[in-house]
Amino acid sequence: MEDRQGRLAAVDAEALQAAAVAAIGAAASEEELEELRVRYLGRKSELKLALREVRDRETGMALNAARAAVEEALAARAGELAAAGAATAGDGFDPTLPGTHVPRGSLHLITQLRRRIEDIFVGMGYQVYDGREVETVWHNYDALNQPEAHPSRDPQDTFYLDDDTLLRTHTSPSQIRAMLEQEPPLYLVSLGRTYRRDALDATHTPVFHQVEALAVDRGITLADLRGTVETFARAIFGGDRRVRMRTSFFPFTEPSVEFDVTCYLCDGVGCPVCKHSGWIEMGGAGEVDPNVFESVGYDPEEWTGFAFGLGIDRIAFLRHGLPDLRLFWENDIRFLEQF
Ligand code: FA5
Repeated sequence: MEDRQGRLAAVDAEALQAAAVAAIGAAASEEELEELRVRYLGRKSELKLALREVRDRETGMALNAARAAVEEALAARAGELAAAGAATAGDGFDPTLPGTHVPRGSLHLITQLRRRIEDIFVGMGYQVYDGREVETVWHNYDALNQPEAHPSRDPQDTFYLDDDTLLRTHTSPSQIRAMLEQEPPLYLVSLGRTYRRDALDATHTPVFHQVEALAVDRGITLADLRGTVETFARAIFGGDRRVRMRTSFFPFTEPSVEFDVTCYLCDGVGCPVCKHSGWIEMGGAGEVDPNVFESVGYDPEEWTGFAFGLGIDRIAFLRHGLPDLRLFWENDIRFLEQF
């Protein structure tokens, strides 16, 4: 009888072990696993009851082996579920889930364009010269051959800080500073903020940005100016831009011109971007006036040069077909993140 019981127990133990291990391996949650632990190893489980009843060594060994196997299976499955749980739980890390989108900032469009313009000129062998936003009246006007009575000197047009200092109205005073500091030949580009008491509208802001280029060397002509402007315009607007010059007047250049480039959108045919003229106004330029050379101590008999200046905001405006310069200052992230 005992023998028979023992043999049966041994067979049961094996079947029990197989059933328990299979069920444990398929447990889908920690709760389910706990239920299985109670069912197979709990105080009232078949195994525990059988162990309590054990009378012979063989049956005891068989039942203990089954218990050890069930405990091992429980521990293994608990480990697997914990790992999977860590991977999927809210506080865990699941490398298979798509990442959270972190919005990335970008440089302001004007800053991007400033850097692009600097790169273009550096590529042509120019130095980048940092001027000053607070300038003396002498650097901003006198040294640039601006007559005392010129209307732009009027406090209605210029932000004066006191009688001798002002917020520069253009980047041209950088020419003066650079020439006072360095001997010719000289090739430089200077970019930065400029200030005018202009009424705010879609094409004027009281603070805006200019780029100034200055080349001083022997035998420089308007043809050099034209070639440089054209190279620049093509690099900025791409394609086969053409440049035209119209006579103009600036006190610091003689002769003076204003230059336009063929519209980047219609290539000169006429469209809304160029107001159907086929041309886009770029800025002012000319050969450096001998009086300017004299004010910085360069010999105008020996040295020649060209200078040009243009509004960076307007380039950005045209390049991207924007409706209003004020967008650059409003810092609306929905506008800025497009660039
Ligand atoms: C000048 O400022 C000259 N210094 C340019 C120059 C340099 C001529 C070297 C010759 C030699 P002007 O006042 O035209 O020129 O201004 C140049 C550009 O600045 C304009 O074409 C325009 O694009 C931009 N600009 C002028 N006023 C404003 C404003 N209120 N808002 C935005 N851009 C402006």
